[in-house]
Amino acid sequence: MELHGKKVLVCGGASGIGAAAVQAYRAAGASVAVFDISFKEERLTETIIEIPVDLSDSGQVDEAFAKLESRWDTLDILVNNAGIECVAELEDTSEAAWDRVMGVNLKSVFLCSKAALPKLKASRGAIVNTASQLAFVGASSFTAYTAAKAAVVNFTRSLALEVAADGVRVNCICPGAVDTPLLRRQFEGRRGPQGTLDDLVGMHPIGRLGKPEEIANCILFLSSPLASFVTGSAMIADGGYTIH
Ligand SMILES: NC(=O)c1ccc[n+]([C@@H]2O[C@H](COP(=O)([O-])OP(=O)(O)OC[C@H]3O[C@@H](n4cnc5c(N)ncnc54)[C@H](O)[C@@H]3O)[C@@H](O)[C@H]2O)c1
Repeated sequence: MELHGKKVLVCGGASGIGAAAVQAYRAAGASVAVFDISFKEERLTETIIEIPVDLSDSGQVDEAFAKLESRWDTLDILVNNAGIECVAELEDTSEAAWDRVMGVNLKSVFLCSKAALPKLKASRGAIVNTASQLAFVGASSFTAYTAAKAAVVNFTRSLALEVAADGVRVNCICPGAVDTPLLRRQFEGRRGPQGTLDDLVGMHPIGRLGKPEEIANCILFLSSPLASFVTGSAMIADGGYTIH
């Protein structure tokens, strides 16, 4: 993949799939800025842009984009990847937990896409949102998460229609279970870590979990000129989880 000269913003790029995407974009020659809540400090140099920001908060998002714009005049690719899990039966899901999942997994996609669109229209750029295979199937104890991810898929389709004439492509990637800190946090389940891992692997016909790099490759493809006729799509990379 050759993305020399491209400017890429990865939201939720400090860990897991996002961090793999950051590495992959850098390896392809792109300049990468990262927004993530977990950064301890801001780094704004010629070569490194890392901004701590809660992407569910419009004020913080506006501030982060203002800082980015103080460094970059253009933006070619936006990756909306920040996400959190919420594993709880509905009756145990608090309003605060519901709002947090919607805020991080869905509202952040709205806020960052809105903030980035003027620059993306100018560059005829691309957006890739990270949804989930759980956008297409139900999952017990995942009502908030699955609702948010399904919404990301249809947000993607509608925005793709809205900005197609401006030359901006909008797609989403729908990973299956990928071995990241987010997934590992779910391993406290009733079956214990190994039981949970075995259960998860058993749901993937390919017979293993995904690797962050495998999802990063899909994100790169969707945002690259190789996918120039692809917009509004929900690419499933789930080791066969949703085949049946
Ligand atoms: N790991 C999986 O099995 C899997 C499967 C399907 C979809 N996904 C999705 O992939 C994306 C990345 O997940 P991951 O598994 O790499 O998880 P991860 O926890 O390793 O990474 C998520 C990143 O998002 C950041 N983040 C969380 N809340 C934030 C906020 N409010 N503001 C800014 N940044 C925030 C975290 O700090 C972290 O760096 C998420 O959207 C997740 O829902 C993951």
